[in-house]
Amino acid sequence: MINIGLIGLGSMGYNLAKNITSKGFKIYAYEKNLNIIEKIKHDRIQNLSLVKSLKQLTYEVPSPRIIMLSLPADKIDECIDQIIEFMKPEDILADLGNSLYLKSIERHNRLLDKNISFLGIGVSGGPRGARNGPAIMAGGTENAWIKTSHIFNAISAKNGEENACCYFGSAGSGHFVKLIHNGIEYALMEALSEISFILNKGFNISYDEQTKKLNEVLKTSSSSFLLEITSKVLNAKNEDNKYFIDDVDNHIGQNGTGVWTINAALELGVSVPSIYAALSARSSSQFFNYATENNLSDEDLKHSSKVNDVKLDEIIFFNFACSLFQGLEIIKASNKFDFFNFDLQDVFKAWSAGCILQGEYLKLISHQFNINKNLDYKFLYKLINQKCPNIDHIRDFCSLAIKKGIPSPVLSSNLAYYDLVFSNHKIGETIQLQRSYFGLHPLKHKNSSEIVKPYWTEL
Ligand code: 6PG
Repeated sequence: MINIGLIGLGSMGYNLAKNITSKGFKIYAYEKNLNIIEKIKHDRIQNLSLVKSLKQLTYEVPSPRIIMLSLPADKIDECIDQIIEFMKPEDILADLGNSLYLKSIERHNRLLDKNISFLGIGVSGGPRGARNGPAIMAGGTENAWIKTSHIFNAISAKNGEENACCYFGSAGSGHFVKLIHNGIEYALMEALSEISFILNKGFNISYDEQTKKLNEVLKTSSSSFLLEITSKVLNAKNEDNKYFIDDVDNHIGQNGTGVWTINAALELGVSVPSIYAALSARSSSQFFNYATENNLSDEDLKHSSKVNDVKLDEIIFFNFACSLFQGLEIIKASNKFDFFNFDLQDVFKAWSAGCILQGEYLKLISHQFNINKNLDYKFLYKLINQKCPNIDHIRDFCSLAIKKGIPSPVLSSNLAYYDLVFSNHKIGETIQLQRSYFGLHPLKHKNSSEIVKPYWTEL
């Protein structure tokens, strides 16, 4: 039996506490915010007791114990600084927030000096997921995981008999998988938003009609949690029967995990154009105030193309598969570090339910991966070929956006990614020649080890 303490009862922490206690575990929890404390006292959650200080928390929760932190990323170190004096060797500290994996490695090493175990655990699914079953991505001291995994398995989302809960190994690995999850999440969200915008401006499809169309896609293997919520939010109206989408401010927020994904991709040399495009679209949304009168009017933007020709399920699958693949490529590349050793099957398991990426498309891709056992470009090609046999459907949709001046950074990036990988082109060759011309960089022959020597290399 292990005793549980929890620090931080914000929307994630409180819902995790409700979930954990509902599974029969007792929790002592500490929260600073007086308004939150009042609300929780009023809710009277069985098995949840509040304490007044960190010292009291460590007193009420005797060893063997796990102290879970559900705090914003920038509050974790401060909290560790404060609680460390009350902690004993063999204690377990678990960070359940969205922390940068490098910080988790640093914290793990810091606590190791005191013989305290550290777990860095990515939790996905937002407050609702936290309450009803999140996806759980853990990394850190193995022995600590062995002692506590029954708690995390009990509260996690289920995919049939299986728990969407995985331990990935050494310090930082859980938060690494979570940050890749978030980077992919950015790309899928942006893709769906672009698709909706094109339907609206390019085809004059109302939000009610869009919802109907997306609901049809939800019956296919392109279905996903994000698609489902997109279909719900698009036609949601206020009490005056006005769409929320027409009222809401369009400057997109972010908590930084997308930037971490891109940093990881850059450091590992992995190409993730659509994840970057999604992040960049969020940043550029800060400049959305500059629409000029030269912009095409709504009337100009209407298009005679028949929306019935649009293969929405294929367009969605194509974009989801390409973006997911880019994220998984980062995970694969990270195995080059000595300290990570991911098995993609585990990643698929952790993302099979409860998380923001969950969906039928992911189950299909995971199923194919189980058969194929290898995730490479051939795999992506076969997958896309099977689900989107006519790429022209994707091209036509993107062309319309480009022609009409409708921004589609993620859709275009995915198509460019696909074309860069799968079509014959002379882009690399031209760049190598340019580099050689001004920098005299040596040129290799494409079919042999011979050196190619154009006339400009003779100085
Ligand atoms: C999840 C989400 C979550 C994310 C927030 C906001 O898996 O539940 O990824 O962890 O942090 O939804 O993220 P942004 O503010 O960056 O959009």
